[in-house]
Amino acid sequence: MNQPINPSPTDLAGSTAIVTGASRGFGRGIADALTAAGARVIGVARSGATVFADAADPATAGRLIDEHQPRTVVLCAGAAPQMGPLPEQTWESFSQNWNVDVAQAFHWLRYALQRPLAPGSTVIALSSGAAINGSPLSGGYAGAKATVRLITGYAALESERAGLGIDFVSVLPALTPATGLGAKAVAAYAERQGLDVDTFVESLGPALTGEQVGKSVLEITTGQRRDHRAYTLSFAGLSPLG
Ligand SMILES: NC(=O)c1ccc[n+]([C@@H]2O[C@H](COP(=O)([O-])OP(=O)(O)OC[C@H]3O[C@@H](n4cnc5c(N)ncnc54)[C@H](OP(=O)(O)O)[C@@H]3O)[C@@H](O)[C@H]2O)c1
Repeated sequence: MNQPINPSPTDLAGSTAIVTGASRGFGRGIADALTAAGARVIGVARSGATVFADAADPATAGRLIDEHQPRTVVLCAGAAPQMGPLPEQTWESFSQNWNVDVAQAFHWLRYALQRPLAPGSTVIALSSGAAINGSPLSGGYAGAKATVRLITGYAALESERAGLGIDFVSVLPALTPATGLGAKAVAAYAERQGLDVDTFVESLGPALTGEQVGKSVLEITTGQRRDHRAYTLSFAGLSPLG
């Protein structure tokens, strides 16, 4: 349990938010929700965003945080893992999410603490339900996402110890066919179970959408859900994790 830093809901109007991976999928839903709440959103991706940059590059976090001084940072960029069982993975494919997702989290969390961001700021990192359940067909993805959750928790501890007043929260969404990354995983798991994609998707229950992810991230950034360091996220909404 985290002590809420801002007990009353925060108004985002006029504040700046950086959202990585904003060109499509969850990131676009998050950017739209923050924009609708009045934030000036700097979307980061390697194409189709406000700023074209590799979010995992060591220089990107410092450059964009210094330039835009965000009150909200959402780390949503992530590599779509190469789907296949362990014997079909190479070290290069297995380590892909470590080199993108974990590297991104490391550089941005570290710089947010070092600079530091202003008190009352929020940094949200997208982990995954796979961090809890595993994902045997996506190489190092689940382990990388577990590390994203862990180091976001480490950043929260450092913020508390130093009295920085920065919230660090991880969100662990359920698998959904609604994005490019999720659709690829759904297709691989359907094939493995000998099911057609529609039948497999039905077995997952109602699918999470980018719009719902945006709404949930907004609940955290505005302080309506700021009492825990990690939440799972499904169609039913956010659920606190330890
Ligand atoms: N979809 C799911 O079922 C699911 C479930 C749990 C967790 N997640 C997590 O949620 C996050 C978003 O996933 P999504 O499903 O929305 O994926 P997506 O539709 O494939 O979108 C990924 C986004 O990340 C950007 N990106 C990838 N590598 C980047 C890099 N190095 N630098 C900057 N931008 C980069 C992509 O744009 P460019 O390619 O143009 O750079 C794109 O905007 C990921 O972290 C993912 O692991 C997804």
